[in-house]
Amino acid sequence: MKKLQKVTLTINDREVTAKEGMTILEAARDAGIYIPTLCYHEKLAPYGACRICTVELSRNGRSRLVTSCVYTVENGLIVKTESPKVIKVRKLLLELMLASSPAKAIQDLARQYGIEKRRFEADKTNCILCGLCVRYCSEIKQANAIGFVGRGTERRVVFHPEIASTVCASCRECFSLCPTGKLPSETDGVCFDDLTLDDFLKTQQSPA
Ligand code: SF4
Ligand code: FES
Repeated sequence: MKKLQKVTLTINDREVTAKEGMTILEAARDAGIYIPTLCYHEKLAPYGACRICTVELSRNGRSRLVTSCVYTVENGLIVKTESPKVIKVRKLLLELMLASSPAKAIQDLARQYGIEKRRFEADKTNCILCGLCVRYCSEIKQANAIGFVGRGTERRVVFHPEIASTVCASCRECFSLCPTGKLPSETDGVCFDDLTLDDFLKTQQSPA
C-alpha cells in the first residue's frame, strides 16, 4: 500500500502537518483549530453544501475563498480561517440560512458572527438543505428512504413512503443529525399528504 506523504501548510500563522488527501477542515481540526460546519459529518463523503466552512487561502501571492471540507491540503498553502473576507461570507450565509430556519444551531452561529437581526425573509422551511439526512440514509444505512426533490427554491427533502414504511420506524438515526430539528418535528407533507412523520411512524408501529 502506498505510504501517504506528509503535507505542510500554514493555518492562522501556525505551521501544520497533515496527511496527503486530508481536507483543510480535517487538518485544522487535527491541529485544534476551529472552523464552523453545518453539513459536514466525518462518516460521510465530503459534500460542500452549506459553505459555512469557507476559508481564505493564499498561494503564490493570490488569495481565494474555498470550502474547507472538500478542499484537500497542499504543501505551502497559507490558510486563514477567520479573515475579514471569510467573516463577510459566513455572515451572509447565516443571514440567508436564518431566513429558512430559526433553529438554535443557526442562531448560535449567527450570534457568534455578530448578526443581531434578520435581513432576509423567506418561507420557513426549517431545512437548510445540508443533506445530512439524505446522505446518512444512503451512505451509512443504504436505505434511501429520504431524498431531495425539486430544484432551486423548490428543492426540498421528502421521505419515500414505500421505503420509509419499512425502515424508518426502527431507525430514525437521521433525526439527531438534522441541524435544524426539521426531521424530528415535521415531515414534508407532499409524499405523506396530511400525515405527519410521527403519525406515519406510529402507524407503522401499531400492532396489526
Ligand atoms: S431535513 Fe435537516 S438534515 Fe435533512 S437536509 Fe434539511 S436541515 Fe439537513
Ligand atoms: S461544512 Fe463545509 S460546506 Fe458545509
